[in-house]
Amino acid sequence: MTQGPLTTEAGAPVADNQNSETAGVGGPVLIQDQLLMEKLAHFNRERIPERVVHARGAGAYGTFTVTADVTRYTRAKFLSEVGKQTETFLRFSTVAGNLGAADAVRDPRGFALKFYTEEGNYDLVGNNTPVFFIKDAIKFPDFIHTQKRDPYTGSQEADNVWDFWGLSPESTHQVTWLFGDRGIPASYRHMDGFGSHTFQWNNEAGEVFWVKYHFKTDQGIKCLTQDEANKLAGEDPDSHQRDLREAIERGDYPTWTVGVQVMPAADAATYRFNPFDLTKVWPHADYPVIEIGKLELNRNPQNVFAEVEQSIFSPAHFVPGIGPSPDKMLQGRLFAYGDAHRYRVGINADHLPVNRPHAAEARTHSRDGFLYDGRHAGAKNYEPNSFGGPNQTGRPLWQPVPVTGVTGDQEAPVHAEDNDFVQAGNLYRLMSEEEKERLIANLSGFIAKVSRDDIAERAINNFRQADEDYGKRLEAAVQALRG
Ligand code: HEM
Repeated sequence: MTQGPLTTEAGAPVADNQNSETAGVGGPVLIQDQLLMEKLAHFNRERIPERVVHARGAGAYGTFTVTADVTRYTRAKFLSEVGKQTETFLRFSTVAGNLGAADAVRDPRGFALKFYTEEGNYDLVGNNTPVFFIKDAIKFPDFIHTQKRDPYTGSQEADNVWDFWGLSPESTHQVTWLFGDRGIPASYRHMDGFGSHTFQWNNEAGEVFWVKYHFKTDQGIKCLTQDEANKLAGEDPDSHQRDLREAIERGDYPTWTVGVQVMPAADAATYRFNPFDLTKVWPHADYPVIEIGKLELNRNPQNVFAEVEQSIFSPAHFVPGIGPSPDKMLQGRLFAYGDAHRYRVGINADHLPVNRPHAAEARTHSRDGFLYDGRHAGAKNYEPNSFGGPNQTGRPLWQPVPVTGVTGDQEAPVHAEDNDFVQAGNLYRLMSEEEKERLIANLSGFIAKVSRDDIAERAINNFRQADEDYGKRLEAAVQALRG
């Protein structure tokens, strides 16, 4: 805090911050009380729209350190040398809850990571799960509507959730993951992170590789059971946020070991699963995880609103050597986030301290708009120009990919072993008997709340197709609960 008297927003000293100005003792309040007008008006505008998803979250700054030579895969400068360090900002979140919701809930966790690289900011906007519920962006608003509050009841409704999942069999893998033991992390520090989508890496020679990112927690995985979570959510709704801040305050910096699965471009067309299908993993036996770095979180934000609420992450923020894949979900996200930022934080959101490049300079020809800070001074705002303005480089960040066929509303290609259930079944069969019991209890407890038998049966049928035993046990458990 600076020294000196309290002032108005315009810097004039304030005489009385306890009593508003009246016409006579006990008389009405005067409109000339500038301080009162200013305080009430500012207060009314203290909120910005919360994120439409992932509204509830916590963030911290940190450092990414390269631990392996990956220059044969990517020309990204921040990955160019073993030992090289890059400043980062990571925002964790839950998905469905509103800004004030409890942290200890069954929900995926967001894992949004900004690398402040010397070639601009690179954002990896992932989750703590390697897969997702759907595989086409056109279904996302419908999916999220079923997770959020029903327009009539104003509450989340089991009917809507299970109706959508039952009618979207591609969700079976992610739902099995979510209702299993890892569905409620004990804290943000005790969970893994994933880029989830497949991304393009390209090297100096222009060769293309498809990659998937993995962030393995060095704190170890720790999760809560449904009963533990119910208790904690009531007792300490801010449990995850507090845990992260306090760990960093006491110098107990959380770290993650960063790895990638790398697929040579030539493998993609014939791989047994469509490598751009977000509902599928690449089994490690096919493409092992190669360790490439270490992520440490070591600095708390000083102002939650300025640095966490106003932070923005976009899957479209790439740097040279890294780009998108044709994953239809990712393609939709390339649009959705920038659009959300322009609505939620404003057209100059990219230039707030937490969002602007820290190791590079943004040199654009765009200007003005709400809260423009004049950073370009008198420089020309067009290209080409003869006044030494910044110029285009002629080299795209990523390599072109071949395409075939005709335009149309089309499903993504189906590869030899692709169907909606195969990996959900594999995940179920990997679980111990105790894990299976908890999974069935978690799922049946929720499905039993559905009001219509046909909706419950359709949902159960998806799990039956993943594994006969899975479906049978679930059906029996739901029947027992529904009586
Ligand atoms: C097509 C599907 C999707 C759409 C349209 C979409 C859209 C959005 C939007 C509009 C936001 C709010 C952004 C803001 O207000 O700043 C958001 C946040 C987020 N989304 Fe997605 N999303 C999609 C799928 C995914 C997937 C598959 C993942 C993870 C693999 C993901 C991870 C996140 C995270 C981590 C955040 C929070 C970012 C932050 O901390 O600010 N989303 N999403």
